[in-house]
Amino acid sequence: MEVSSKSLQFLRTSTNIWFIVVFAGQLIFALYILGVYGVNGIAGDFERWNANTPRGYVRGDLLGNIFFGTHVALAAVITIGGPLQLSKQLRMKFPKYHRISGRIYVYSAFLISFAGFYLSWIKGSIGGITGSIFISINGLLIFIFAYYAIQQAVNRQFTEHRKWAIRLFLAMSGVWFFRVSLMLWLTIHQAPVGFNPETFQGPTLNLLYVLCYIFPIVFAELYFRARESSKASFKSLTAVFILLLTVGIAIGTFSATMGMWLPNL
Ligand code: HEM
Repeated sequence: MEVSSKSLQFLRTSTNIWFIVVFAGQLIFALYILGVYGVNGIAGDFERWNANTPRGYVRGDLLGNIFFGTHVALAAVITIGGPLQLSKQLRMKFPKYHRISGRIYVYSAFLISFAGFYLSWIKGSIGGITGSIFISINGLLIFIFAYYAIQQAVNRQFTEHRKWAIRLFLAMSGVWFFRVSLMLWLTIHQAPVGFNPETFQGPTLNLLYVLCYIFPIVFAELYFRARESSKASFKSLTAVFILLLTVGIAIGTFSATMGMWLPNL
């Protein structure tokens, strides 16, 4: 095998490992969402919606509760549907499924962000105004990427469509990256370093907002360039970088599962 095809294979393998870890982690997150919000909601035990967020359910705030309920219901749909949408095997074997679920995914992207804007600016976010600003930037990116992903599919520009779909998936995974990164940070430091756990504000959180809500798109560009580059060293270095990120994500996912998601089920 030539050096360049070996490095391309290395890049593909590291991306596949990254994807498997992210897919598994998002499935656990989806189970948590279904357990805490789905099961308790169906049982009418809405107070338990506040297990991880102070203002999920507010007695008497019908509109706010509807927005929150819609937001978490869509969160379960997109967290399971997103990785499936990127799976090449599913796309090849079931193109009709890919088109239908793609539409559901994109409409859900618009709706979940719209509900998220209401929660951030009307109901109030746990991270205060800074948290609201950053998550709203994430919401705007979701709007833009969802629009272009669907537009390029309609125009049958499938190479470009795939790139926009990857950007959309990364932006939609921002809240998951944030939870996982925060738990990784807490695992490393064994204490809330660089932020106040009462007010949920501080420089560490600001850095994580940027890294999780905005930076994944920069990483996507790096990946696209590495894949298209003729330089084997660029491909290999990017593959190593993706593997390192995957180790961090795996540790953060394990901590989030044990410390945040499983105990609330
Ligand atoms: C697109 C992917 C998204 C997913 C999967 C998602 C998921 C969730 C989940 C599960 C919760 C409940 C809290 C928890 O149990 O952890 C939540 C709360 C919340 N979400 Fe989202 N969300 C997404 C996008 C957004 C966006 C784009 C915004 C803002 C524009 C937003 C704003 C909020 C707010 C304000 C809350 C209330 C909790 C808080 O104060 O932070 N979300 N979200």
